[in-house]
Amino acid sequence: MQDLDVSTITDAVIEQMATTPDPRLKEIMEAAVRHLHAFAREVNLTPDEWLKGIAFLTAVGQACTPYRQEFILLSDVIGLSRLVNVMHDTKGREAAGTETSLLGPFFREGAPKIEPGESLARMAQGPEIVIFGRVTDAQGKGVPHAVMDVWQTDAEGLYDLQAHDPSEMDMRGQLRCDAEGRFHFRTVRPLGYSIPMDGPVGELVRRQNRHGYRPAHIHILVAAPGFRDLVTALYFADDEHVDSDTVFGVSKSLVISPRTDLPDAPVPGIPSIRYDFTLSRDTDGAGGRVGSDPSKLMPAG
Ligand code: BEZ
Ligand code: FE
Repeated sequence: MQDLDVSTITDAVIEQMATTPDPRLKEIMEAAVRHLHAFAREVNLTPDEWLKGIAFLTAVGQACTPYRQEFILLSDVIGLSRLVNVMHDTKGREAAGTETSLLGPFFREGAPKIEPGESLARMAQGPEIVIFGRVTDAQGKGVPHAVMDVWQTDAEGLYDLQAHDPSEMDMRGQLRCDAEGRFHFRTVRPLGYSIPMDGPVGELVRRQNRHGYRPAHIHILVAAPGFRDLVTALYFADDEHVDSDTVFGVSKSLVISPRTDLPDAPVPGIPSIRYDFTLSRDTDGAGGRVGSDPSKLMPAG
């Protein structure tokens, strides 16, 4: 007969789950139960607060659509996505490898192909910049024909999905590096933006007195056979939120400033960013993409 109290309930649950055949599921669920129970004890969670928490998580689920993943947003604003990213990085990134950043919810497969020197901006207007550099391995050898997906907001801080008819892609493109791993493209300088604030996560962020902004950035995903996918982003140093990103995506090594004095800039006269991306070998076969296309997380139908 079970007669459980505050100190014995945790072991009783873990004991009942002890025959879980999948060892990783067993490990994860045991730790989740231990930590959740410890959390409830620490804050002395009341039934009313527990119900509010359930209502909040229910609202987070209900806010999800094929174009919006409110649970990932929740994970982002509490720093969990960053933590998982950094742990994944620590495990498989070579010491010289470029640091990763969050994929975010605005990546789209099938972006328009961009030739060297072309612009990502098809419709968007604004101050132009050039981005150029090389994709190399950890020894500095160019990775031939690496494929780069680039996506960003426009000069108003909007992704194409938010700015106009989502079927028309803009401010995103896919380019192929040359045989030495070199690339260059033009774009419009992006503006920082607020995370979606019209759902339960936004309400939480507001109640915490946080601004809800991400600093201006350009997302880049680099892929080449034999290497882990590099999901990263470049952050503009002069953005007022570069030190207080709501989703904790910024790393010092990813902060950049456009310059007009770079001797090897391919388009002189336009502010340019030189950034070399270093890929890590895919030793564990994991491919390494951190993050997800939100539409793939929704149940079919
Ligand atoms: C983004 O950078 O696109 C992003 C990342 C996390 C939450 C919201 C937006
Ligand atoms: Fe973004």
